[in-house]
Amino acid sequence: MRGILLAGGTGSRLWPLTLTVSKQLMPIYDKPMVYYPLSTLMMAGITEVLIVTTRQDQEQFQRLLGDGSQWGMHLEYAVQERPEGIAQALLLAAPFIGDQPVALILGDNIFHGNGLGTRLAENKGLSGARIFAYPVADPSQLGVVEFDEYGKVISIEEKPQQPKSRYAVPGLYFYDHEVVDIAKALRPSTRGELEITAVNETYLRLGALQVTVLDRGAAWLDTGTFEALVQASEYVRVVEQRQGFKIGCVEEVAWRMDLIDDAQLRTLAGPLLKSGYGAYLLDLLDRPDGPHDVAGRRTRAAAGNRL
Ligand code: G1P
Repeated sequence: MRGILLAGGTGSRLWPLTLTVSKQLMPIYDKPMVYYPLSTLMMAGITEVLIVTTRQDQEQFQRLLGDGSQWGMHLEYAVQERPEGIAQALLLAAPFIGDQPVALILGDNIFHGNGLGTRLAENKGLSGARIFAYPVADPSQLGVVEFDEYGKVISIEEKPQQPKSRYAVPGLYFYDHEVVDIAKALRPSTRGELEITAVNETYLRLGALQVTVLDRGAAWLDTGTFEALVQASEYVRVVEQRQGFKIGCVEEVAWRMDLIDDAQLRTLAGPLLKSGYGAYLLDLLDRPDGPHDVAGRRTRAAAGNRL
């Protein structure tokens, strides 16, 4: 399965912060925002990812993420010239997708939760589409999914003035390769965008849309406003300091997913020692894993064997 990470857009809701730096490179506590969605894709078992950015931001993303080989990944880049919708990223990615299923994640969406990685990894042989639903207090600025009393999906609407439910659609979507043809058939919405919600509606009409409700134990955080940006940083800081495990730490996830070995993790830690981030990575090599194992891959015994 291939991954697309969409990090385009003008970030105008965060101006002047994002006038010169991409929103998806803004800090969320101790790492750039894009690390979080990238690590989510990695936990889903995806190692080939297309990073879609604006033309002016591409170089900075390349400087940060490179070709991904340092994390056992394969990263490619594509430019979205204008913010013409999430679904446009699927068109840009068509050659990259080929006949593979694909996961699309928005570069400003942060997911955190027990067992999330394992659940995401189940989408590998997907036919049709799988999206998620997450209860939020005010879904009116998001995609909203409506269920009937049996839990069957009735409708999906983009930013409805009167939401039919509290279930918002997070920015993580799994599709089979048919999605390219579906995206090709879209016309721009009234706000001039190729809407991802329209893609999901098409799958719904075809009877090929699965919607999984993320329970309250999972956190889905938005980062679109000043408030949300600080709240996300606070969330990460509190959980990280309490648990002693980092969230969205790409180096750690690469290591836990066996994409890199101990020696490579040690090499990655080297330049990051001054900030304390590198010390965290080195420390992973020296402690047995507890039950909070990020990817659920390395058991305590396996961690012990590696020491
Ligand atoms: C987009 C989607 C929306 C989804 C949201 C998740 O909204 O259009 O359906 O719920 O991402 O972050 P936008 O980024 O356009 O506000």
